Amino acid sequence: MHALDKWLRNNSISRKTFSTKLNISIATLSRYLSGNRIPKQEIMQRIIYLTDGKINPSNFYIIKNNNSSSSFKNYKNDHLLGIENLKEDEISSLLNRADEIIKENRLEPKVNQKYNGKTLVNLFFEDSTRTKTSFELAAKRLGIDVINMQIETSSIRKGESLLDTAMTLNAMQPDILVIRHSLSGTPHLLANKVNCGVINAGDGQHEHPTQALLDALAIRRRKKQIKGLKIAICGDIAHSRVARSNIKLLITMGAKVNLIAPSTLMAEGLSYYGANTFSNFKEGLNDVDIVMILRLQRERMQGSYIPSAKEYFKFYGLDREKLSFAKSDALVMHPGPINRGVEIDSELADDINRTLILEQVELGVAIRMSVIEHLIHNLEFKK
Ligand code: NCD
Repeated sequence: MHALDKWLRNNSISRKTFSTKLNISIATLSRYLSGNRIPKQEIMQRIIYLTDGKINPSNFYIIKNNNSSSSFKNYKNDHLLGIENLKEDEISSLLNRADEIIKENRLEPKVNQKYNGKTLVNLFFEDSTRTKTSFELAAKRLGIDVINMQIETSSIRKGESLLDTAMTLNAMQPDILVIRHSLSGTPHLLANKVNCGVINAGDGQHEHPTQALLDALAIRRRKKQIKGLKIAICGDIAHSRVARSNIKLLITMGAKVNLIAPSTLMAEGLSYYGANTFSNFKEGLNDVDIVMILRLQRERMQGSYIPSAKEYFKFYGLDREKLSFAKSDALVMHPGPINRGVEIDSELADDINRTLILEQVELGVAIRMSVIEHLIHNLEFKK
């Protein structure tokens, strides 16, 4: 929190009252407090006078390379619960900021003082390596403290204990709560109970918005724009939250989406969003720019959906032969973790000229930094 904000709080003075005393708008005061603008000399002197010298020029700094608050204006939510209901300009705002962050990061991997004192809690009720680490790294790059809650999945009793957890966390006053849970809708439930920003890091088979955003960023950086592209999502669509978030995002951004899966792993209702469904790889990959491969999510399968992994690979595993049905410059993506020889050929998975798998991981940090910045900005703005 900015020293002046703290002083105002300790003295029970609102930003509005203080800005009136300075004869400036509340928006201008907010710009000083978020490091986007330095007060002019005469205003600075008035601040020193009004705060008895407690607040002085050393408390004001411009955050280098920081984008003006205007780039945040299109995303107005306090949470990121899903891609459903997001509009094109909201998605673009999250992607644009991530692009800037990538530039800044590569040049200067230093923490950003602006977010010092903020806290992010990682609350993962399901296993995760890359997503949890990615959120942790994103927060740390922004100078935010991270708490990784240790959760024994077996000890969680749904419903009641979830709300108990929410109330306990709320009492710790975090700024951002990142949640992954096997039950769809859990982040939405918690968002109604806590005062902080909530980010859905995957809820059951429902949504995984930051994955879809990082995938979109990867596509946009390689193919310049998403609009007009033809993108195939292949594999275990039925159990995939990644597929659901991606379908919504890609169609909102103007891409054509083909879903390719055996009938047992195709989800009903997704054509509602405008996706075309195929059970044949050759037909589904025709003229495609991007091939997105999904993992067989065995942990979510009750019963047998495929004859065997070997059989699955023969018909639905991506290898060079099947990839040749797509455009000659088509790129392959996978959210990870990959099962080599099940949904993707091992040698193809390692071909960095054709696959974006590692790039997706790197871009994940930038996207999560962008999302965190947007939510904190919105929460601050409302104070
Ligand atoms: C995905 C997930 O957990 O939904 N992975 C991820 O976030 N990197 C996809 C998967 O587990 O297959």
